[in-house]
Amino acid sequence: MLLEATNLNTYYGESHALQDMSLNVEDGEVVALLGRNGMGKSTTMKTIMGLLKPRSGKVIFDGRDITGLRPHKVARAGIGYVPEERRIFPNLSVLDNLMMGVKGGKVDTSNANIWTIEKIFERFPFMRDRTNQKGALLSGGEQQMLTIGRTLMGNPRLLMVDEPTEGLSPVMVKEVRDVLAAICKSGISILLVEHNLKVAMSLADRVYLMGKAHLGFTGTLKELDANPEMRAKYLEI
Ligand SMILES: Nc1ncnc2c1ncn2[C@@H]1O[C@H](COP(=O)(O)OP(=O)(O)O)[C@@H](O)[C@H]1O
Ligand SMILES: [Mg+2]
Repeated sequence: MLLEATNLNTYYGESHALQDMSLNVEDGEVVALLGRNGMGKSTTMKTIMGLLKPRSGKVIFDGRDITGLRPHKVARAGIGYVPEERRIFPNLSVLDNLMMGVKGGKVDTSNANIWTIEKIFERFPFMRDRTNQKGALLSGGEQQMLTIGRTLMGNPRLLMVDEPTEGLSPVMVKEVRDVLAAICKSGISILLVEHNLKVAMSLADRVYLMGKAHLGFTGTLKELDANPEMRAKYLEI
């Protein structure tokens, strides 16, 4: 198992935002975390990433207990995080934005799947043409791509992406979908929060459905397909 989050209990003040939330991601898997607004999907990712400290529960990554580690340490352990609020550096060039994603420490250069600037440019050709342009001048979809590209520069083993297609045009939605499919193919596991069910279903091997603060359902796509009650209960249909 690559990621094992078990019985996470996370609070905002007295508000109990995660109640025994658990989920796993295996090596090479795309796992979708779905549910209505305000259920705790982003909170789950932030807790895994170390941005929120759980009161109890465990996060094991690649066999190592990373519960409560600071975000940069979690990143260094191999988890890349693309938050809901796209965070590009608006005053930095496209190239400098990408370079911000390079982590200190050593990169395993023997790995043929390693992400380099050249590979990023191959995957996102628009960035090559606009290396010196400021991030702020990119469209919303391009900024999302830049955030994903920057995160890939850290060569994560697991990419957590929170609502990557939100607010994008249909053309850009497809682009982002295809990029995520390519990332998975390159050997990176993905934990995906996504409101666009079609996108989520076209990528995911397994799904977790969240009810308020807790896990509601987990299964394969086939199991979810065969379970209209669960879809009605936990998804907006
Ligand atoms: N910074 C915060 N302070 C207090 N409550 C928060 C904060 N962020 C989120 N919440 C609350 O925690 C719950 C889960 O939020 P969130 O994880 O963002 O849900 P989702 O990503 O599933 O839409 C919601 O009720 C939300 O209002
Ligand atoms: Mg959210």
